[in-house]
Amino acid sequence: MSNESEPRIIDPLPGPLDGSCVVPGDKSISHRAILFSAMAEGTSRLLGVLDSSDVRASIKAVQKLGAKVSLEKQTDGSLAGGIEGWGAAGPKQPDGPIYCANSGTTARLLMGVLAPWDITVRIEGDESLSKRPMRRITAPLMKMGVEFDPAGAETLPITEHGCKRLRAIKYDSPMASAQLKTAVLLAGVYADGVTELNEPSVSRNHTELMLPEYGVETTAGERTARVLGPTQMHSAEIRVPGDPSSAAYIVCAALLKPGSAVQIENVSLNTARTGFLMTLERMGADVTTRRTGSSGKEPFGIIGACYTPRLHGCEIPGYKIASLVDEVPVLSLVAAHAQGLTVFRNVEELRAKESDRLDAIVKGLAQLGVDAWTEGDDLFIEGQPDLQVPEGLVFDSRGDHRLAMTWSLVGLTGRVPVGVTSFDSVDVSYPDFLRDMKELAR
Ligand code: S3P
Repeated sequence: MSNESEPRIIDPLPGPLDGSCVVPGDKSISHRAILFSAMAEGTSRLLGVLDSSDVRASIKAVQKLGAKVSLEKQTDGSLAGGIEGWGAAGPKQPDGPIYCANSGTTARLLMGVLAPWDITVRIEGDESLSKRPMRRITAPLMKMGVEFDPAGAETLPITEHGCKRLRAIKYDSPMASAQLKTAVLLAGVYADGVTELNEPSVSRNHTELMLPEYGVETTAGERTARVLGPTQMHSAEIRVPGDPSSAAYIVCAALLKPGSAVQIENVSLNTARTGFLMTLERMGADVTTRRTGSSGKEPFGIIGACYTPRLHGCEIPGYKIASLVDEVPVLSLVAAHAQGLTVFRNVEELRAKESDRLDAIVKGLAQLGVDAWTEGDDLFIEGQPDLQVPEGLVFDSRGDHRLAMTWSLVGLTGRVPVGVTSFDSVDVSYPDFLRDMKELAR
């Protein structure tokens, strides 16, 4: 997805990170607000929507299907405005394929959005997305009556033939995936009866929290969610809080850069997303949270983080991974600076993200002289509290936004510059990442 041919040189920040900031809107909540508004009858009002290439893929997709989007750029960089959904009339048959770029959330959730309608849509993605597993989504949707072509395809491009008479199902998901859960629940909104999804451990619950705002009868337990269909979704007002996954880079930079003390305001404190903070606390990090409000049922507040010279390793059990799945790369970098061993259990899902993040972590940490390895599906990192970063390192981001930001922290928080390939992949989730880091260190 990157156009950058030369590695970006990331210089050390001139001083500690200090003061307050906000981070852009939550990516998962932004995608959902756009897709659910497009499905609804009437005009929904959205505030604080993330403006990034992933979210733009969802906006373009719903426009192609007939939703009227009038979101405009605000002075704070977010998108705000209205989306008039297709409601009971349904989406229109698009005149060509829907291109989801790098966005797994767009492609997978879209399969649920399209499921109940009598249309045929070819879904495509970029090179990275075209390698990511899709059968996990098509399998339960096929049980509901949707057809896919090729039927057993694991990867995009895939053509979906929706089905007007969807069957409600009870599905025991083989993995804790909020994308899978959401695709099934969205199809369930139009199926006749109760659609239920059970997961082996807890995944992010933004869908269950947001669907009732659009008038869908939803019940959610620890590892289970249900919707009652068929329902016609109505419009809603959604204010998107800051993205904890973006805040994680600022938090980890502050922990590693001597003298730092930062506060990140208006950020989501949904516990299905803040597993990285609990892990950092267990590593001895000076981090705090304070809830200041809620947006619908989504809690938000302030995250504080201060430089912590003595961090120690810890073990993260498999059932906690979903609550920090996108933060494993940056947590691995923190673990590389900690005393002793850090173990992430059951992180096989990282192999199927925007890149093979397990392989990337092991190879990137090896460049730093840190021992990291996998055994089966577990990741091990032997930290080095007195880690000295060699000069002239160039990290390969593999066009993966979370790796680009993780490896850039080595340069930003250290004493020597580093190079990062395809750095502009940060546009996927946090386009102004570098500007915000520099502002905090001024
Ligand atoms: C997401 C769920 C997670 C996460 C991804 C966003 C979502 O993926 O890694 O960045 O918005 O539902 P999985 O559902 O594959 O675990």
